[in-house]
Amino acid sequence: MKLSVIGAGYVGLTTAACLAQIGHDVFCSESDTEKLAKLQHGVMPLFEPHLEDVIHAVRKAGRLCFGSTEEAIAWGDAIFICVGTPPLPNGDADLSAIEGVARSIAKNASGYRLVIEKSTVPVQTGGQLQKHLSVHNKNGLSYDVASNPEFLREGSSVEDFLHPDRIVIGVDSPRAEGLLRQIYEPIINQRFTCPIHSDCPKRKEPVFLATNTNSAEIIKHASNSFLAMKISFINMVANLCEVVGADVTEVAKGMGLDPRIGPAFLNPGIGFGGFCFPKDVQAFIRIAEKSGCDFSLLREVEKINQTRVEHFIEKIRKELWVVRGKKIAVWGLAFKPNTDDVRFAPSIALIKALLAEGALIRAYDPEAIEKARPILPDVTYCADAYQAAEGADAVLLLTEWEEFRKIDWSRLATVVERPLIIDGRNVLSREDVSSNGFHYIGIGGVSATPQVVQSLIAA
Ligand code: UGA
Repeated sequence: MKLSVIGAGYVGLTTAACLAQIGHDVFCSESDTEKLAKLQHGVMPLFEPHLEDVIHAVRKAGRLCFGSTEEAIAWGDAIFICVGTPPLPNGDADLSAIEGVARSIAKNASGYRLVIEKSTVPVQTGGQLQKHLSVHNKNGLSYDVASNPEFLREGSSVEDFLHPDRIVIGVDSPRAEGLLRQIYEPIINQRFTCPIHSDCPKRKEPVFLATNTNSAEIIKHASNSFLAMKISFINMVANLCEVVGADVTEVAKGMGLDPRIGPAFLNPGIGFGGFCFPKDVQAFIRIAEKSGCDFSLLREVEKINQTRVEHFIEKIRKELWVVRGKKIAVWGLAFKPNTDDVRFAPSIALIKALLAEGALIRAYDPEAIEKARPILPDVTYCADAYQAAEGADAVLLLTEWEEFRKIDWSRLATVVERPLIIDGRNVLSREDVSSNGFHYIGIGGVSATPQVVQSLIAA
């Protein structure tokens, strides 16, 4: 099918590339002219595993082009809207980009179009889209509006798109449902050339769930908010564990063995960040409020998350006594591993607070340095984890990149001023770290003292 994707952010670019990968002819537009020029010249504007290879292959096969919004609107029988919906100061989602696209479609398109909202939007946005398409309709356009929320995690978005657990569509007509089934048919039946797995294992076919548009919109916001709630819940349990002498990793394991709870998203840490959870929880609270529903449960989720950075800094203060003038190594800037995205990353708030207290920050991240640099100009950026730790009074692990689990601790011990690791994600082996003479402090009652110090205490 001829498909258009409006917006080449993480979601739009992954959607365009993967739809082309499964055989469609895709036109993807981007309004940022610098970013568009990059894409047209084969340069990636962001880091996302596998995406560059997929884009390269589908462009070579002639199934993916980049250009303007007007060209995209003219191209596709179905148009996926993947533009940004950033938070407004009051927590509402800013829908001006979506409105702009709707207006453009109504004014420029003719014939039939299936208009699909993939951007994360508040419930009833589909209704507004319908209305605006009708108000500005200039050329006798006939259309359906559908919701097709995405469940793509940054860092594994290509895999999530091609091998999803579920495909949710919100439709109000059989024609729209039929077209979306046709678009996703290769994924529903897991029949396409997989660009990730050379011997693609037989995957479970995803559930294809068709609902009405309002329900699909709520499924998206409710899913993200529920996951955020799980994280804040385990973070509070972690606080309790610290006080009463329990170990949150053991507690989370014990809880997660119950299939009704499940082990995912029970990793405590410095809080959830990124461009989805913080804004989606806020937007969901606002929609509930506007609809007269008191969703104060989610206010608590947000409130707990906002205390995580200060809680972590308190651990640093407790160890360093005086923060001013101390050299602190930061491992990880991205809001999670396998991405270069630092939007709403807890690391950014944490570093800003430490700088304000007079600390000297030396930071390393495998991918996110260029995105962090303009936001944090007073940080010394380093080429690797060891360089960042040179002369450090403390090493903070803020993003759980795989390479930090493979650190040569004996080498690291030769470069630091003081062997102290504070692990904001509980991912390092406390045995490995402490057996190399480091004092290890994690989250939720997880810590280990080096053997040499233990024997001194015992004596
Ligand atoms: C999230 C959802 O997981 C996707 O399903 C959704 O499509 C996406 O938002 C979106 O709305 O576009 P993402 O923000 O990429 O994906 O990242 P997650 O893996 O969900 O992590 C979000 C944050 O929670 C990160 O800061 C992560 O470090 C934190 N987190 C996650 C924890 O602190 N603990 C956990 O156990 C899990």
